[in-house]
Amino acid sequence: MAEQAEPTAAGVKEEFLAQHLWPPFTQMQGIKPIVMERAEGAVVWDSDGNEYIDAFASLWTVNVGHGRTEIHDAIIAQMEKLSIYHIFQIANEPAVKLANKVAELTPGDLDHVFLTLGGGESVETAVKMARQYWRNKGKGTKYMVMFRERSYHGTTMTSTSAQGLTVNRAKFEPLLPGFIKLGAPYCYRCAWNKTYGDDCKMECARQVEHEIEFYGAENVGTMLGETMIGTGGVIPPPPEYWPMVNEICKANDVLVINDEVITGFGRSGTWFGFEQFGSDPDLITLAKGLSSGYLPLGAVVARKHVYEAFLGGPAEAFMSGATYMGHPLCCAAGLANLEILEREKLVDRCAEVGPYLQEGLRSLLAHPIVGDVRGIGMVAGIEYVKDKETREWFPLSQGVAAKIRDEAFRRGVFVRLLGGGHVHAVAPPFTITKEQIDTIVRVLDESIGAVEKDLGY
Ligand SMILES: Cc1ncc(COP(=O)(O)O)c(C=O)c1O
Repeated sequence: MAEQAEPTAAGVKEEFLAQHLWPPFTQMQGIKPIVMERAEGAVVWDSDGNEYIDAFASLWTVNVGHGRTEIHDAIIAQMEKLSIYHIFQIANEPAVKLANKVAELTPGDLDHVFLTLGGGESVETAVKMARQYWRNKGKGTKYMVMFRERSYHGTTMTSTSAQGLTVNRAKFEPLLPGFIKLGAPYCYRCAWNKTYGDDCKMECARQVEHEIEFYGAENVGTMLGETMIGTGGVIPPPPEYWPMVNEICKANDVLVINDEVITGFGRSGTWFGFEQFGSDPDLITLAKGLSSGYLPLGAVVARKHVYEAFLGGPAEAFMSGATYMGHPLCCAAGLANLEILEREKLVDRCAEVGPYLQEGLRSLLAHPIVGDVRGIGMVAGIEYVKDKETREWFPLSQGVAAKIRDEAFRRGVFVRLLGGGHVHAVAPPFTITKEQIDTIVRVLDESIGAVEKDLGY
């Protein structure tokens, strides 16, 4: 009998164009598909055999790198025992162990872990948890939730209602009631000017106080914010921001939710971003790095005082959850992933190699159209401008950042376009080598140069 050929992804491109698979955030008209076929470490290959450095770790997700057989083995071993069982009033071994591990890794009394299947679901759950918390406390009027311009928290209706990027909210109006948009993200201006401290009046943090005053502390119960704005343009907060926000929230009996979907599990150089940026949240949301994306997994972690508000009778129980929460296979993948992060000290590595990445990318500031390079640990943003002095952006219709991204693709580096179309994000696996970082910097340098030339700079 003739040997069967290994099935490959070749030919999938044409099938993709039949448009049965409907990808997210994508205009399907005229799409030129790239089909990813395999990956190893910080490298991915498409179905034509082209090799790319995955400078965005899929979607800032694959912290431990691709192709980790330990995670594959853990999933298979769990599959051989128990593939699926729900956790409604029941438990399974990987779910219990994962919750214990997360509680051990999170500081203080952030000890109670509600599992989900991703970031948006974690945010959805955390907001519901905060609202029920206030009801259980007899303060049901405190249902209002503050969020910030430029924030991104996912695509559920709750995370869309807390969405600070207009392009992602406008088409879905009317959104949920009770969400208060803070007028500007923290210190975008300061991030540009690098004036944290001296000139900085911390107006951004003060806005939280103004809004509580305006709507009344009896009505505002929650402040939701990414510890570091990610999709809105990779903007690390000034060091004073989160301590001030925490102080204002505590004084007004407002819960703080730090969205740690990107910064959770090491990307900023500490296990959690809020540790680095001086926040003291009541709830945190996790996903991505929890399983490095090997299987879908997320979590909300609550402090003891939040958890305790749900103890009592049936009326106090948190009335939320989903079929797949605590999925044994996803939790087994998460556990194996956290084991790798710990064993290989990858969070320390992120703190050590991160500055090399940041320094390399800062060399791109020599280009006239690179207005800012900012970031921390293994996450950075490169912002493009028409004029460095005025910081005016290129018109979006000119597609400058998109052209640079496409040039980088052609040269074998995947970066992501975000920040309203003016910023490239770089957030590679923590295992990336210095040589691969050099390649990212060189390719971006060449790609920016090529587009600059076309623009006549
Ligand atoms: C800060 C933040 N929160 C939430 C989400 C949503 O996560 P998911 O896409 O897993 O729903 C994202 C996704 O990028 C994110 O960056």
